[in-house]
Amino acid sequence: MTLFVFLTCIVASSGGLIFGYDIGISGGVTSMDSFLSRFFPSVYKKQMADSSTNQYCKFDSQLLTLFTSSLYVAALLSSFLASTVTRMFGRKWSMFAGGITFLLGSAINCAAMNVLMLILGRVLLGIGIGACVQAVPLYLSEMAPADLRGTLNIGFQFMITIGIFAANLINYGTASIKGGWGWRVSLGLAAVPALFITIGSLVLPDTPNSLIERGHDEEAKAMLRKIRGTEDVRDEYDDLVAASDEAKSVDHPWSNILQRKYRPQLTIAILIPFFQQLTGINVIMFYAPVLFKTIGFGSEASLASAVITGIVNVFATFVSIATVDKLGRRALFLQGGTQMLLSQFLVGTLIAFKFGISGVATDVTKNYASIIVLFICFYVAAFAWSWGPLGWLVPSEIFPLEIRSAGQSITVSVNMFFTFLIAQVFLTALCHLKFGLFYFFAGWVAIMTAFITFFLPETKSVPIEEITLVWKKHWFWSKFISDEDVHVGNSESVDDRIEDA
Ligand code: BGC
Repeated sequence: MTLFVFLTCIVASSGGLIFGYDIGISGGVTSMDSFLSRFFPSVYKKQMADSSTNQYCKFDSQLLTLFTSSLYVAALLSSFLASTVTRMFGRKWSMFAGGITFLLGSAINCAAMNVLMLILGRVLLGIGIGACVQAVPLYLSEMAPADLRGTLNIGFQFMITIGIFAANLINYGTASIKGGWGWRVSLGLAAVPALFITIGSLVLPDTPNSLIERGHDEEAKAMLRKIRGTEDVRDEYDDLVAASDEAKSVDHPWSNILQRKYRPQLTIAILIPFFQQLTGINVIMFYAPVLFKTIGFGSEASLASAVITGIVNVFATFVSIATVDKLGRRALFLQGGTQMLLSQFLVGTLIAFKFGISGVATDVTKNYASIIVLFICFYVAAFAWSWGPLGWLVPSEIFPLEIRSAGQSITVSVNMFFTFLIAQVFLTALCHLKFGLFYFFAGWVAIMTAFITFFLPETKSVPIEEITLVWKKHWFWSKFISDEDVHVGNSESVDDRIEDA
């Protein structure tokens, strides 16, 4: 890999920072008394009530969850617009527009005087996130050489986890600011990662795939030589051109994606983000401090525990960075899924044991609560090397060029929709399902692990413009793809190429 590719990938990955910062910041802010009493007084009053009332329900408020979830609806919509921008103008302009909008949102949030300003700020942040999350994973997968695509693409998830962790730490610090304006600092500091991606995107080069898609063939060839560090790029260049010719014969990526031959990709593009959210990860990411308060920690201990899960999330991501291009995607999915399932089952059971159906616990010792946190950490670690990074990597590498932008938008919007749904219903679900909520997510993890076992082909090391071959040789998906659908750049026969892939 050339240094040039490495550096461009780091800059582009910083788009993940804004997404992560936001995921981490809202949960902490909503557990700060000064923030709650100012914007959500009724939740604040309920929370102050005696601890003998039902612990499962004390944070249940639709307005409070709307604060967290409004962002995801905005992100969902903006990813569709971003799909046109990434296709027509290049991936970097989508990142730039995302960075600027996010900056504006963080300024409004920092200055918020009422709930309306808070939500307006969140919507702008969401538009920014949608644009960046649409463009960054595609950018990374296109820049990377095939055998390092996993590692480089996971840079995005890595930055998400750094963003979450930074937000957890900042919340921990700002919560103790006297005078009750700590939350303004937390929300305002979102501008820092936004500046990274806004300025960074201006210096990023376009990907060769996108240059060819927009008719700049010579520049594309030069860029390919530069990023691969060799003069001999003919095969890859031919693949890109073939992919682009194919793409040009299609007027409408959106109706195109519905064709039978794209059914495998479409199914994966929808199911992967759906499953990723149904792991329940964002219950921990958004509401860890709230959850820890529920199981009997004080305010400070709750924020501190969120810092711990944040660290685990960052470090466990390294496992996937180091192994994804060697062990492959499937191995990580299967191991991670199994570990998550066991951890969730144990967390649910430990909570059931103490809080039962009534939600009233009398003697939760520090040790008992710490064991729950420990299993939550096992769960987070497993997510961090499986569904977290792969939830973005796999969709970004399975589409042929002609539907890549559109496909990625589908992935982003499904992801955002279910992130929204989970953010919106979690506090109510906790109130009704109680400890059973953990069993609910464990059940989904079992289903998704079975799905991966049977339906996800391995995509490790396969050049991105040859990925159709992988579907063509899959026991189930092959029936959707005829021989004529397998166009790849050079003249080897389809069978040989399938052998190679
Ligand atoms: C997911 C987020 C999640 C984060 C946790 C991402 O891959 O899309 O929803 O909060 O991982 O690290």
